[in-house]
Amino acid sequence: MDALYELENVTQRYDGRVVLDIPRLVIAPGSITGLAGPNGGGKSTLLRLLAFLESPATGVVRYRGKPTLGREFALRGEVTYFPQEPYLLKRSVRANVGYGLLVRGAGAKDIRERVDTALAAVGLDPGRFAPRSWRQLSGGEVKRVALAARLALRPRVLLLDEPTANLDKDSAELVRRAVFAAREEHGTTLVISGHDQRWLDAVCDSKLKLREGGLAMSEATQGRETGKPGRMA
Ligand SMILES: Nc1ncnc2c1ncn2[C@@H]1O[C@H](COP(=O)(O)OP(=O)(O)OP(=O)(O)O)[C@@H](O)[C@H]1O
Ligand SMILES: [Mg+2]
Repeated sequence: MDALYELENVTQRYDGRVVLDIPRLVIAPGSITGLAGPNGGGKSTLLRLLAFLESPATGVVRYRGKPTLGREFALRGEVTYFPQEPYLLKRSVRANVGYGLLVRGAGAKDIRERVDTALAAVGLDPGRFAPRSWRQLSGGEVKRVALAARLALRPRVLLLDEPTANLDKDSAELVRRAVFAAREEHGTTLVISGHDQRWLDAVCDSKLKLREGGLAMSEATQGRETGKPGRMA
């Protein structure tokens, strides 16, 4: 299958310091890729590049066979980024989860259905949670509402930056199921960073480890043979 993303000699530099250096990385459509590695390793930086939120200092990010400019506003409709520290609009849960659909011109009925489905997917009963204010949520609920807002878009690509940080075990399990459902039902390709290796191993087809901006390791997960990920050249 053709690559969805192809990165070649991609580097990112902040304040003159190289924080990411990826000679080559290929991400297949429909795959779930984990990003592991220590704090400051470059996970969020790589996710922001894949989300077209910033341009690389050097190198090329090819998406669906075409070189991109880095910051690609046109692609943000199909590539959705869940930031490490998500925040909500100062509105109801329903308005938050439906916001992206509204700005994309979806109809009210469609929005309502998708919001309910997305809330249920992250374990929040729509009847109870949809009418609540953004203020009336716990930290873990805020995170799940923010995730539901991304799931509701049914994007082609979903980039999740530490979606299970601060979540309890049951919520992390719900996120795992929501990730699989996104792929099964909508063919979504996912790249997910995290520090919980067992969770990443259970969710991802393969896992990359970033250390000081470099790919320190790549392995197949889900109990497959390690060392042959087919993702790195
Ligand atoms: N806007 C910025 N300006 C300057 N340096 C930055 C900026 N964003 C990130 N960095 C630096 O880039 C490096 C990579 O950061 P990044 O956020 O990608 O790491 P990470 O792997 O996501 O870490 P964590 O596990 O803590 O989330 C770090 O050394 C960080 O200090
Ligand atoms: Mg990070």
